[in-house]
Amino acid sequence: MSEEKTLYRLSSTETYHRQDLESLGWELTVSNALHPAGSPIRKILKNDASYGDLLYGFLSTHIPFADITKVLEIGGGYGYLMKDFLKVNRNIRPFMLDIAPALLKKQAETLAGHDVEYYLNDATKMGTAFFEGFDLVIFNENLGDFPTLTDVDPAILHTHRTQETDDMIALVRHFFDLYGLEKPALHFNLNIGAMRMLEKVCGAGVPYIFVGEHSCEWTMPPEIRPYFDASGTGNPRRIRLKGHDEYTIRFSYLEAIAGRQGYRVRRGPFADFIRPDINDYVKAVLRSRGLYSDSEEIICQFVGDLYEYEYLVLARQ
Ligand SMILES: C[S@@+](CC[C@H](N)C(=O)[O-])C[C@H]1O[C@@H](n2cnc3c(N)ncnc32)[C@H](O)[C@@H]1O
Repeated sequence: MSEEKTLYRLSSTETYHRQDLESLGWELTVSNALHPAGSPIRKILKNDASYGDLLYGFLSTHIPFADITKVLEIGGGYGYLMKDFLKVNRNIRPFMLDIAPALLKKQAETLAGHDVEYYLNDATKMGTAFFEGFDLVIFNENLGDFPTLTDVDPAILHTHRTQETDDMIALVRHFFDLYGLEKPALHFNLNIGAMRMLEKVCGAGVPYIFVGEHSCEWTMPPEIRPYFDASGTGNPRRIRLKGHDEYTIRFSYLEAIAGRQGYRVRRGPFADFIRPDINDYVKAVLRSRGLYSDSEEIICQFVGDLYEYEYLVLARQ
């Protein structure tokens, strides 16, 4: 038996997505939560609209959609986002790549009547060449599913011991050395799949990239902060879900990778484009922590999510 200490563990959701996932029903994404027109959370928004409509409106102030044709969405879930984009912009040629057969099927149902190319595959296994030629690549609430190294010993960043024999250790060192990432002093979790994915898509020269996910570095504005107890710790947090674990994302690492690859980066909370109206009613709901009804509990959760979820809009310079 090796005397070497384990320097990391690998958390993967691949088997779950390929074999076990039947629906996202229990996993309420922001996009799905905003899908039903009459949902209580839409009523607390300054602009009552679906996720795709709000995102498209926001992106069109940062991305020249007149120059965009080929749009690849990775991990499109139920396909609602792309459906909204196609409703607004008929010039888009949609491509959907997903690891889960059940969700790709659902996307085909949602996007029926549109000319869509579907790819059933693990995005992390696609070569750089696959991503060349797309004008915009969208990652919405999926990078947290990608492979994550957990309980990483900071010694991994300093030891040369197993560098030649362990590709994963070499990959970790590559990211920290090449992109000058801040090195954690204590054991940490690392979104290695998300980092490798972004590096690959940037390396393919895709002009515009959108990333949206649950962050581990979120902050809240002063008017919201008193209503919430937790805060972003900077270390990707494990979220236990049915059949798999997700990890929140250390956005500053993704930002550093994109910046070094020549991208202009805009970063912020989802609340930049899903703007809540923090009126007296919403303040009262937040103050009560949503204890008095299911819909108020959902409102509390949702307002928190609008700040805990961050986005990156990347534009190649
Ligand atoms: C949490 S769901 C989000 C769905 C949708 N984007 C939304 O916001 O509602 C994650 C999506 O990413 C897909 N996914 C997870 N890992 C993937 C991988 N390695 N390659 C491609 N798709 C993946 C899942 O099948 C699913 O469609």
